[in-house]
Amino acid sequence: MSDNAQATENSSLTVTDNRTGESYDIEITEGTVSAMDFRQIKVSEDDFGLMTHDPGLSNTSHCRSSVSFIGGEEGTLEYRGIPIDQLAENSNYLEVAYLLIYGHLPTEDEYNDWVYQVTHHTFVHENIKNFMEGFRHDADPMGMLLGSVGALATFYPEAREVDDEHERHMAAVRLIAKMPTLAAFTYRHSMGLPYVYPDNELSYAGNFLNMLFKLAEAKYEPDPRVERALDVLFILHADHEQNCSTATVRSVGSSLADPYTAIAAGVGALYGPLHGGANIQVVNMLERIGSTDNIPDFLEGVKNGDEPLMGFGHRVYKNYDPRATIIQKYIDELLEATGKTSPLLDIARELENRALDDEYFTDRALYPNVDFYSGVIYEALGLPIHFSTVMFALMRTSGWVAQWMEWMNDEDLRIVRPRQIYTGPREADYVPMSER
Ligand code: CMC
Repeated sequence: MSDNAQATENSSLTVTDNRTGESYDIEITEGTVSAMDFRQIKVSEDDFGLMTHDPGLSNTSHCRSSVSFIGGEEGTLEYRGIPIDQLAENSNYLEVAYLLIYGHLPTEDEYNDWVYQVTHHTFVHENIKNFMEGFRHDADPMGMLLGSVGALATFYPEAREVDDEHERHMAAVRLIAKMPTLAAFTYRHSMGLPYVYPDNELSYAGNFLNMLFKLAEAKYEPDPRVERALDVLFILHADHEQNCSTATVRSVGSSLADPYTAIAAGVGALYGPLHGGANIQVVNMLERIGSTDNIPDFLEGVKNGDEPLMGFGHRVYKNYDPRATIIQKYIDELLEATGKTSPLLDIARELENRALDDEYFTDRALYPNVDFYSGVIYEALGLPIHFSTVMFALMRTSGWVAQWMEWMNDEDLRIVRPRQIYTGPREADYVPMSER
């Protein structure tokens, strides 16, 4: 019997309120207690009742989910129960997206139909293109993506019917299909290059490479090694249970906003340097370190609290992030395919070795996370550093959609509305400006 199963058998927590001497039995289900059960604990009839306080929601489960599972201690990740290494080895991103969203591996017919639908929704309305052209020439691509995903909501107002299963499915197809197009347009815009339309004869990853890199050739032919490595990166980033951006998608979705708006909010949450933006910070950090000789001094600075070691550490993983292990396998192959060398990679590898040999990092269970190597890979692909977080957003879209869809079907769905400990003044009077 698992620890969890044992804990669910007749489990309860007896809480004694030392202010009143009263005892309460709080039920333990699935390894959790309900925060609402604490409301009954009061010092008097008119007392509001006890609340739980958890900034950063470090120890609060906010939903039931069967989409993905992180084994934080062992360093494992599963999508719908299937280990990430099996999916990276045997599957492809579109199959994984179907698995995440619909809960099972597709049959051949389901798969072919899904791929057909996604492939035939990759184009965006010309007005979206015009809208994107309005951004400044040096606009940050992530900001452009954020704006344009939100704008999709205005093109598909029927997506507001979040109770309609068909509309939910269409939004899922459109989001998975159009994100690469939007992402590639942001890149082409920042490079001053004409936007490239999707090529339906190419694979999902192959078409994305086409929209990024096609120049004057009549037909873009992706290098199969690059195409495969990119597809694996898509798989690795597809979902990661209740992280900051996914929790944001659920939060915005809880107000029954349409899925484009909810996912635009997820893009916003991913933007930050402690989340998806970390992949940019890692490359900046490696460039600043500049040479393997400077690593010891840099690590001393980290240990003195001058700055974090970006790309290290995770709220849930207390072991090596399995995605970072899989990424490593593809780096050398990618460099070979692109014919590039990566001095930053040498620094990253040495930095990792030194950090993992240092008690500061091992005592705190700080290991490389997915962002430690992803920015270096995108650089090897020839993409500018500031595009790295767009890559992450694009790859996380299937997970956001799956989690949003699950939430819309959840009988516990209700608007997210946390409480606060109010620390400000009460009953203050308005003072006219002349008297301040
Ligand atoms: N470098 C140095 N020290 C660190 C780091 C780091 N990257 N991360 C955590 N620590 C220390 C932290 O100072 C604390 O030490 P002490 O106990 O002495 O106060 C201890 O480790 C525990 O850290 P924490 O701040 O309680 O951890 P958290 O769960 O609040 O933060 C994190 C998780 C990912 C925000 C943090 O590890 C971090 O800032 N890492 C760097 C940014 C990064 O790589 N982010 C990408 C995360 S993975 C992909 C994604 O989700 O986007």
